[in-house]
Amino acid sequence: MAAILLGLITAGPLLTALAAPKGDPCTKIAGQTFVPPHDALACLKSFPFNKTLQDNVMDVVSGVFDFFAFEDWYFDPPAPFQDSRIAIPRRLAWIRHTHYATDYDFNRAVFDFTNRLNDGHTLYIPNCYRTFRNFLPTPVVTLEENGTQAVFVMPDLVQLMSSLDPDFTSYFDEIGFDWRRLAGAKVIDIEGLEAYDYADKIASMETGTYLDHGVRVNSVFSSYIFPNSDFTQRFGDIAERSFPDQNTLTMTLMPADSKNPETVKIPFLSAYVGGDFTDKASFWEANCVARSDTNGVDARGSKSFRGKRRQPKGVITDRDLASIMRLSRPSVTSVSTVSEGSGAIQSSILPSNKTGVLFVGSFEADVGQFQEDVKATTDRFKEAGVTRLIVDLTNNGGGNLCLGQFLHQYLAGAKIGYPGVQTTSRANPLAQKILAAYIAQGHTNPASFYAPDNWVFLNDTQMPPTFNYNNPSVPFPINGRTDPQSIRFHDACTPFDIPIPEEALFDLKDVVIVTNANCASACALFSTIMFERHQTKIAVFGGKPGLQMEYKGMGGHQVMEWSELDTEIKTAGLKDDPLAPPDFLVNANMRHSWRIGWSSLNESYPIDRFPYTKDTYANPQNLWLFAESQLFS
Ligand SMILES: *[C@@H]1O[C@H](CO)[C@@H](O)[C@H](O)[C@H]1NC(C)=O
Ligand SMILES: *[C@@H]1O[C@H](CO)[C@@H](O)[C@H](O)[C@H]1NC(C)=O
Ligand SMILES: *[C@@H]1O[C@H](CO)[C@@H](O)[C@H](O)[C@H]1NC(C)=O
Ligand SMILES: *[C@@H]1O[C@H](CO)[C@@H](O)[C@H](O)[C@H]1NC(C)=O
Ligand SMILES: *[C@@H]1O[C@H](CO)[C@@H](O)[C@H](O)[C@H]1NC(C)=O
Repeated sequence: MAAILLGLITAGPLLTALAAPKGDPCTKIAGQTFVPPHDALACLKSFPFNKTLQDNVMDVVSGVFDFFAFEDWYFDPPAPFQDSRIAIPRRLAWIRHTHYATDYDFNRAVFDFTNRLNDGHTLYIPNCYRTFRNFLPTPVVTLEENGTQAVFVMPDLVQLMSSLDPDFTSYFDEIGFDWRRLAGAKVIDIEGLEAYDYADKIASMETGTYLDHGVRVNSVFSSYIFPNSDFTQRFGDIAERSFPDQNTLTMTLMPADSKNPETVKIPFLSAYVGGDFTDKASFWEANCVARSDTNGVDARGSKSFRGKRRQPKGVITDRDLASIMRLSRPSVTSVSTVSEGSGAIQSSILPSNKTGVLFVGSFEADVGQFQEDVKATTDRFKEAGVTRLIVDLTNNGGGNLCLGQFLHQYLAGAKIGYPGVQTTSRANPLAQKILAAYIAQGHTNPASFYAPDNWVFLNDTQMPPTFNYNNPSVPFPINGRTDPQSIRFHDACTPFDIPIPEEALFDLKDVVIVTNANCASACALFSTIMFERHQTKIAVFGGKPGLQMEYKGMGGHQVMEWSELDTEIKTAGLKDDPLAPPDFLVNANMRHSWRIGWSSLNESYPIDRFPYTKDTYANPQNLWLFAESQLFS
């Protein structure tokens, strides 16, 4: 395979390769964007297991888990979430005391353990080893055709792949693998399992992020996404993997023009998304050494730390990591769409002129601009006489929690009162010390997350800067344990930047949500509140036939990155406390669910469920027209 790859190697790295010492597996692939997975893995596995680094990573990871709001919940989760069950302290101890073959294997063990918590907010991210992503040239979808649902290679494969870096597709041409002829093939089984059973397996082992298994299954298939001002198409987790640890995927399938099933070994290709390197040493330097922003800072002297309130985040991680691998924009041409300034919202009016579509691709956006965008869009709908609203939340990974609350409030009107949910954080001993230290130091500092004046009581008055919401703490009994928590409090999102109408903008009976249930965090907050408080009709598309699927996938509220938590600890003057984790020596992140959002958990309303078809899986406009025909009475 190396010989075939020569066509992709540019002159510079090739010369370096010739000059470098023999036997350096990183040198072999230096300077290339696309490499066969086994070559990528050989480079990643060339770094020896290092006990110092294992201890360091486990000190940080274990320290962060003391803050994880759901730790006790995982001992015995309720139905239907039992597949996430794990005794976290025991697993942490086990990984800490295991000798691994390589540093990669150790890092994979920590990643896999956190990933299988299925909480997109709680994940160990070893940036060193998340540098190669595996892509399959034949993403699959689940579609209904002639009344039957089945798994297919994307019917529009050739068109959708045309936007990729040509080096990706030319690799397959060079090794003589014809992926084009597989477009639309019906997939019978994958790696010896019936296709939907294989989807279940990937959902259990690799997808992570969402507690609900049904939601994870939907994530393994390709689906449209609107990440940043443009529609594209995700590969889906069967065809896009976080690590280069598999060389091929074997499918038994029926090509569209054939009546005979055949078995095809489809090669993966790894895309490199890390920093420039020429050999092992420079790979380590570029990707693996802790950076200036890996750990937190003592912010007490910093001016920028004061004043403006920080916006709490609820967002999943790096769906956009491999932005070089975005499939082309599905056609949304026959209605005019307006992309708003924030890049998070796109709107259109369907040909009936009665229905407006608000595609909210993300809540990760400039706060003021997002609010202006919602106003501009809905003003335009009103002027055009639109009376019904479709909110498309497909693959919305979340973002700013206050924007989820804003959208709820703007649609439902000021008269509904507080637009969010009650929240708590964990009052573990170090959290108690941080808050007590802030109060003792007289911090009146909304720019840190522990400062009391960053939050409001349930009666919507701001907490005084001396109010200790962790003392006395509130017991949270669960699974035979009792974990101290803070009192319940509200987010301090109001007043919003723009005036909120007193009344609902549209009759809330005429507002519907469409989604593939891959709606994370701030998005789950928005859809949950709309559903629970206004019984908003929600239509979920896709999934495995017959398998139950929730309309939202996450239970958490605010995520805290390691550098943010470390900043809180350092700013409280507690970095030398025996309970405080050390700095990471490596380039990594250990994020966690810091706050729980308490919903009323009233799920006694039915949710509409529809399969995708070949007309809707990659074409939002067709999906909206279908939704318009089905969801409004
Ligand atoms: C292990 O990692 C530490 C920290 O980077 C380093 O100082 C040490 O030399 C490494 N040990 C070995 C045996 O490579
Ligand atoms: C669905 O029916 C059409 C028309 O009879 C046929 O051409 C097509 O092959 C069928 N699709 C499948 C997956 O059976
Ligand atoms: C919708 O509005 C457009 C522009 O005003 C108009 O051309 C079209 O005929 C209208 N369609 C319907 C179904 O009323
Ligand atoms: C709001 O609640 C807090 C905590 O219970 C209380 O101290 C405060 O007086 C209340 N404020 C108002 C205006 O009711
Ligand atoms: C949930 O909503 C239904 C329908 O409005 C209502 O009858 C029921 O009492 C609610 N349950 C809870 C626990 O609030």
